[in-house]
Amino acid sequence: MNDLAVIILAAGRGTRMKSNLPKVMHKVAGRSMINHVIAGVTNLSPDEISVVVSEEFEEYKDLILSSNPDQKINFVTQYERLGTADATKIGYGALTKEAKKVLVLYGDTPLIRPATMADMIDKTDHEHPVCVLGFECHQANQYGKFLISKDGKLEKIIEHKDANEAEKRLKLCNSGVVAINGNDFNKLLNAVDDNNAAGEYYLTDIVKISRQNDKFCNFICTNEEEVLGVNSRKELSMVESILQDQLREKHMSNGVTMLDPDSVYFSADTKIGNDTIIHQNVIFVGAVELASNVEIKSFSHIEEAEIAENAVIGPFARIRPGSEIGEKVRVGNFVEIKKSKLQKGSKVNHLAYIGDAEVGKGSNIGAGVITCNYDGFNKYQTEIGDEVFVGTNSSLVAPVKIGDGAMVAAGSVVTSSVAEDELAVSRSKQRNIVAGAAKFRANKKS
Ligand code: UD1
Ligand code: CA
Repeated sequence: MNDLAVIILAAGRGTRMKSNLPKVMHKVAGRSMINHVIAGVTNLSPDEISVVVSEEFEEYKDLILSSNPDQKINFVTQYERLGTADATKIGYGALTKEAKKVLVLYGDTPLIRPATMADMIDKTDHEHPVCVLGFECHQANQYGKFLISKDGKLEKIIEHKDANEAEKRLKLCNSGVVAINGNDFNKLLNAVDDNNAAGEYYLTDIVKISRQNDKFCNFICTNEEEVLGVNSRKELSMVESILQDQLREKHMSNGVTMLDPDSVYFSADTKIGNDTIIHQNVIFVGAVELASNVEIKSFSHIEEAEIAENAVIGPFARIRPGSEIGEKVRVGNFVEIKKSKLQKGSKVNHLAYIGDAEVGKGSNIGAGVITCNYDGFNKYQTEIGDEVFVGTNSSLVAPVKIGDGAMVAAGSVVTSSVAEDELAVSRSKQRNIVAGAAKFRANKKS
């Protein structure tokens, strides 16, 4: 028997998103909403997760499975959208074993904290077969409302469509998150009918059904922010902004300095060591790993890259996927690094493009150096050794190798490899014409 099984409801159409992408595949902080929900609940080590999806989700299943290799996930299709109780039963049916506790989450509600989920599971047992998560909302809204008795017990949840005017004004709203005691699951869910204004099987009816069985349900309350669900692009941007604030706080509490936190944007997958300093206007995309004591100066854009201790990046640097920036490396202004490895102490300080390259230790790549890695058909590698000096405005036409200790004279176009300690000069020889400038001017004036 499973201790904990999770059912994630994600079969909704998401019409208001006006998107070809299933709603739960939309990203916040660089990660799909469904993956946020999975990552959150994974903290509770569930034995299995069933994700209830619509038919359109087929082509995205593999992506979700491959991004969560250590978690057992079953996808199951709900062909007809008959309501949240129907979807929950379908999810339960996809589990390989019965479970002691079942937690139901929504795929479009990515901010629920693991601590909240754990609390709900703790408050579910045979005496309290259900625990629901509520929040207070003071504006008019369409949420289901908690009907609480005079002695503070949850009696039922009334859906907006079925509520009278007084009920619509109740302040305690239903978030949709529910924990259910495994032993009671079938009994409760099988008693749900579709005899209501929407003609749907409401999961929320299990509260009323528990009361009919003389059992009380527990509920806990959180703030509206935590249970914010996404139905539109506007709500997607609200969740993004909340999540960005949370990520800023997380990194600062881990010992990262930010000169203007509000101007720094993180991906949920960004990892940063302590004593790293991030200046204003920096953007991290995807899985970025910064070690300790790194400094990222303003207006830098860093995507799926690793940066080692004491490296200094920017201002105005672009680090693209697959880059490994070594210890004490400096990447300066208007430099783009793509899928390249730079080893300890090397410098690329100004106006350069380093793509598909390896740079050894202590090398200096001058201003304006370009690795010509693409011939319009294929990409080629550039290998630069240790203690190499590549002069300003040189083009390194890949595939090409520059050996340890070699130098490339400024303005060279290097098309064949340079051996260890060689000096490559590949440019036309300079010729000075005596009084040439004066003659030129005289000519123009006459
Ligand atoms: C639901 C709750 C309501 C709560 C609100 C919070 C019910 C009956 N009502 O209402 O009390 O205040 O959420 O946002 O549960 N889904 C399926 N299959 C279905 C129906 C829904 O997978 O057949 C999924 C949706 O994708 C979504 C979630 O379940 O993720 C909630 O469905 P939705 O239709 O948005 O429920 P609400 O009417 O908003
Ligand atoms: Ca909804």
